[in-house]
Amino acid sequence: METLSGSRLWQLLCLPLCILLLLPPLIDAVWPMPQSMVSSPQYWPLSPASFRFVHGESSAVGPGCELLNQAFIRYYRLLFQGTREDNSQFQVDPGNALIVSVTTPGCDGFPDLDSKENYTLSVSKESCLLTAHTVWGALRGLETFSQLLWRAPDGAFYMNKTEIVDFPRFPHRGVLLDTSRHYLPVKTILHTLEAMAYNKFNVFHWHIVDDPAFPFQSVMFPELSAKGAYNQETHVYTTTDVRMVIEYARMRGIRVISEFDTPGHTQSWGKGVAGLLTACYNGAKPTGKYGPVDPTLNSTYHFMAKFFKEISIVFPDNYMHLGGDEVDFCCWKSNPHVQSFMKEHHLGDDYAKLESFYIHRLLKIVARFGKASIVWQEVFDNKVHMKNDTLVHVWKGAGGKNYLKELAAVTKAGYRALLSSPWYLNVIYYGQDWRDEYQVEPLEFEGTPEQKELFVGGEACMWGEYVDATNLAPRLWPRAGAVAERLWSNATVQCLDDAYDRLTEFRCLLLRRGVRAEPLYIGTCDNEYRGF
Ligand SMILES: *[C@@H]1O[C@H](CO)[C@@H](O)[C@H](O)[C@H]1NC(C)=O
Repeated sequence: METLSGSRLWQLLCLPLCILLLLPPLIDAVWPMPQSMVSSPQYWPLSPASFRFVHGESSAVGPGCELLNQAFIRYYRLLFQGTREDNSQFQVDPGNALIVSVTTPGCDGFPDLDSKENYTLSVSKESCLLTAHTVWGALRGLETFSQLLWRAPDGAFYMNKTEIVDFPRFPHRGVLLDTSRHYLPVKTILHTLEAMAYNKFNVFHWHIVDDPAFPFQSVMFPELSAKGAYNQETHVYTTTDVRMVIEYARMRGIRVISEFDTPGHTQSWGKGVAGLLTACYNGAKPTGKYGPVDPTLNSTYHFMAKFFKEISIVFPDNYMHLGGDEVDFCCWKSNPHVQSFMKEHHLGDDYAKLESFYIHRLLKIVARFGKASIVWQEVFDNKVHMKNDTLVHVWKGAGGKNYLKELAAVTKAGYRALLSSPWYLNVIYYGQDWRDEYQVEPLEFEGTPEQKELFVGGEACMWGEYVDATNLAPRLWPRAGAVAERLWSNATVQCLDDAYDRLTEFRCLLLRRGVRAEPLYIGTCDNEYRGF
């Protein structure tokens, strides 16, 4: 018997393998998983030369909608990873175009907590249709459509016949960035917004200032950033920067919610506003150090009213995050003026009541500007009386799922709740920690169906102690994707092994799109992504 030569053996072994590799990916790699998706083995090629996005004839939003036109250009590039070809000379070919129809007019507004993001996608060789109630839903559908396309090793693009009906499980799906511990360049923020849209996140919670630095440039109080920023020229966000971030986010259906946290976490504010912070004492003598905002002075509230008026104009969202977390009482306790104020107001020595006194007044100020508030859970824990449109942001109790008790208590009191406790993505450990984030079931808390209705979503938090522009993206992606799917997809989408396969695939897609997403585990992406 003739022995097989090396090359012949190679061919025999390799051929079946190569054929396997030529076949399209076997995974439904849409991330986060749509509510309902039926895909079929039938597929056909899409031609980049003639492919087009088209406004549906009966769409309430036409070619005048800049938001959708821009999205069409972005998604054309994402689909075909090349430069825009001039395909205007081609007739619209229904199987080689996506026809986008929106049933409700509106293109220039801002998304909000009540925005409808549902859409349906019906993709076949005969026609590709995307239908949505609003432009926000259309954006979500475009993202899904872009993830359906696959590329064969010969470079050609293919699409499988697919029917999708999709909507988010929760309306508030956020990412928190902290621009105080480290300044994040505007470009880095825009990149993050881009990646958020790929994950169908819809809220950018901008924890913009804190103890270490005050990078927000206020028009009313320019001293705040002049004295409080790391560098008043280079490490600030001007009004123009902020507007750019807000518009960039809007174009992607993302709300920008500012957080100016008080009365704690305000060391950087003190540099630019004399008398705002409480002077700390040692016996009868000031130590030269300062504590939280001084809640006993009228001047504090005059300042806050002017400052938050500006903020309410700069940030168009209906909600403002007012913070209210981790107030250290030592300094208040030491200050004789605060002590006598406590006596006058019969607060005993309960400094939580003093904090409540402050927050209560602040909430009333902000309500005057027509804004609703979000507060960290301490404000609720301290029994501050709040309007019932206030959102309580739960962040404690990650260990032992203690946040479930808090969610039960908050919703029992009739307030709406947001969850972040299990989603502090700045905390890392060796291994696949995304699995813990993924396995969270927020509605597991005890409560009536009415209470469950009050749970509106959550946020992945990226606190900045150890994070700046060099490592933000790899720390955030694809781990935040676990949170994105938990908040978007059906509660029944829980299978970790399936999620691993899809998230691995999605991470490769993020790389191809230029996001420096870190690997989940051992393996490789195909060779089509940009080298870093
Ligand atoms: C797409 O079609 C191919 C070829 O028929 C099939 O192998 C693959 O499973 C299909 N993909 C999906 C997501 O159904």
